[in-house]
Amino acid sequence: MRYLFSKLLRLGLFFLFSILATMAFCQEKKIKKLLKKMTLEEKIGQMNQNNGFFDATGPKPTEDWKARRYESIQKGGVGSMLNVRGVEKIRAMQKLAVENSRLGIPMIFGLDVIHGHKTIMPIPLAESASWDLKAIKKSAEVAAAEAAAEGLNWTFAPMVDISRDARWGRVMEGAGEDTYLASRIAEARVRGFQGTDLKSEKTIAACAKHFAAYGFIESGKDYNTADVGTSTLYNIILPPFKAAKDAGVRTFMNSFNELNGVPATGNKWLQRDILKGEWNFDGFMVSDWASIKEMMSHGYATDGKHCAELAANAGSDMDMESDLYIQFLKALVEEGKVKESDIDDAVHRILRVKMELGLFDDPYKYCDEEREKNTLGHPDHVKAALDMAKKSIVLLKNKNNLLPIPKSGKKITVIGDLADDKTSPLGNWRLAAEEESAVSFLEGLKEYSGNEITYSAGPKVLMKSPGFAESSEVNMTDRTGFDEAVKAAKGADIVLMVLGEHGMQSGEGRSRSEIGLPGLQQELLEAVFEINKSVVLVLTNGRPLTITWANDSIPAILETWHLGNQNGNAIAQVLYGDYNPSGKLPMSFPRSVGQIPIYYNYKNTGRPPGGWGVFNSHYNDQSTEPLYPFGYGLSYTTFDYSELKVEKQTQIPVSISVNVKNTGKVAGEEVVQLYIRDLVASVTRPIKELKGFKKINLQPGESKIVEFSLTEKELGFFDNQGKYIIEPGDFAVMIGGNSKKGQQGRFKLQLEGANHSDSEK
Ligand code: NOJ
Repeated sequence: MRYLFSKLLRLGLFFLFSILATMAFCQEKKIKKLLKKMTLEEKIGQMNQNNGFFDATGPKPTEDWKARRYESIQKGGVGSMLNVRGVEKIRAMQKLAVENSRLGIPMIFGLDVIHGHKTIMPIPLAESASWDLKAIKKSAEVAAAEAAAEGLNWTFAPMVDISRDARWGRVMEGAGEDTYLASRIAEARVRGFQGTDLKSEKTIAACAKHFAAYGFIESGKDYNTADVGTSTLYNIILPPFKAAKDAGVRTFMNSFNELNGVPATGNKWLQRDILKGEWNFDGFMVSDWASIKEMMSHGYATDGKHCAELAANAGSDMDMESDLYIQFLKALVEEGKVKESDIDDAVHRILRVKMELGLFDDPYKYCDEEREKNTLGHPDHVKAALDMAKKSIVLLKNKNNLLPIPKSGKKITVIGDLADDKTSPLGNWRLAAEEESAVSFLEGLKEYSGNEITYSAGPKVLMKSPGFAESSEVNMTDRTGFDEAVKAAKGADIVLMVLGEHGMQSGEGRSRSEIGLPGLQQELLEAVFEINKSVVLVLTNGRPLTITWANDSIPAILETWHLGNQNGNAIAQVLYGDYNPSGKLPMSFPRSVGQIPIYYNYKNTGRPPGGWGVFNSHYNDQSTEPLYPFGYGLSYTTFDYSELKVEKQTQIPVSISVNVKNTGKVAGEEVVQLYIRDLVASVTRPIKELKGFKKINLQPGESKIVEFSLTEKELGFFDNQGKYIIEPGDFAVMIGGNSKKGQQGRFKLQLEGANHSDSEK
């Protein structure tokens, strides 16, 4: 019976693969046929992406400019548009291409759908704090369904840039500092956006960005230079991109920065050798906004024509808003500076993705007004947003179990300008959101309790809400409301202070050199604490903040990031204990800006901290430890780790288990994290590397054995030539609830034919 079943299964799989292979073969044939019909101008048109007609992520277009663009679409000169949204508008644009251009090739419409679409989810950094891959995938699924219902077929997400520098405003858009966690999240997001069938009306193509090293720009200053060694590049920066590729991501975006002297957009080694060569990626690469043109400012290209030549030769398949391919590629091909076969390859890739999306079957398949109306803001999406928001919250401190707070009988004072804000919680990158559409902290809190709640805003955080391209003007002078807020704290049983960054203080172009509480908030916090010690600090922010004073003084601190539409509801559920917080930090929180870059997986150095006198790697004026380490987060219950066991000590896979017990009084979820250290290697390894995690739920008193299996994927690393190797020798292992503390163990790998071993030392 079993034999028959397995035979049938194999036969079924064989047929399935045969069908898929035939379909792919037919599709490739169709593309080749179409390519043969295309003129060089038409091919170059496919490689051109133009902005829509509203000021979303770039400068505002003029009327004359619009007219030229309409004409260009009708001539087949535009393969893709970004920043056009809504069925009506997209249908109109698509019509121009499909019904007017000679070959009627449909355009692909892209937008930055970064964390939700109409229904706004928590910012990606917040979602990453959930370590909940199912919920993260669901969040991307919801975003894709809503974006697709609005006529879109492509998102410029996920951003998979690793960053160790919280000054960089774009950390809000990524998955934090760790390669392993970010890789798993990249896979979840790609699968969420793209589903298993790109042709479905609910899925869109995803885009892994920014290739590469954008998160390693110097001093956290956006668009700055990245200078990165091979070990970091291969082991830290590239793996999340590779994970996205392996999960099937259909597009990549290159980046604004130069990497080791070569702008990423003109970097042949990254785009052709690694991505399209070694990794065999068969989707396409879009440039970042005008990054082709910016190679002039980098000092890498002499003029626009030179930019186009360098970018096309390097493997940038589509030009986002430089207009340089359109202007110069034809001449470059005619002059023999760019090969027509490279143009064909780029166009082939673009057409392939369009076909996979079903745009050739029906160019208007994403344009259905009825679906648009029924899908955007669907109650199921709101439910998923609430679930995601609750899971994203991290409890940083809870002295004497001040939290959760009772639901009645308490006098509660809420303080902070951001507590009453319905826009800030939406965070940055939410192009389809309605302003003021978030449940504010105050609204959520009032909804959930019978307590007596008074509110005092205190001084404004910003002078005014910043526009898309404006920097936020922080209020340092207007003290209106300061004294009233301090007075309001007097006599309250609990003071909830909602402090942090406005949603538009992080994101692109929003780097900060100081990352404390902006404006007068620190002063306010200290003044309130003088009057009333029963303070809960509810942080709202898009990046780690240096809240060292708060950690030393304030009894309870809750990290709530920018949680999207369901902000107030999610926070209230956590504050009142209806949901037990389970988030863990995806980025270390520094004590001071001087500690940056700070990350848990650093190298030991020849003189690790704690050595003789001052002659070891440390600061004279600051601890070397972060304020809160990577992976850290508390719960309303406690977990005890014991009995770490390593089985099959010498061979791959190495099996490791640990016993985790809920030792508190309420049920709770815990993210069990496994870290390893390869003690001696031919290229030095970090003191710790996350290599596995599991999120478990435990009732009070309940224990579970949590098992991990370490395979080739987890036990090796890239050498300085980019070759993946596994070396025998001693490994340390640690399993715990954060990157700092846990049960420790050891194992010794013995491998046949290995090229380096600890005993050689
Ligand atoms: C520039 C950003 O760097 C990129 O991430 C984004 O997708 C494009 N603009 C398009 O808005």
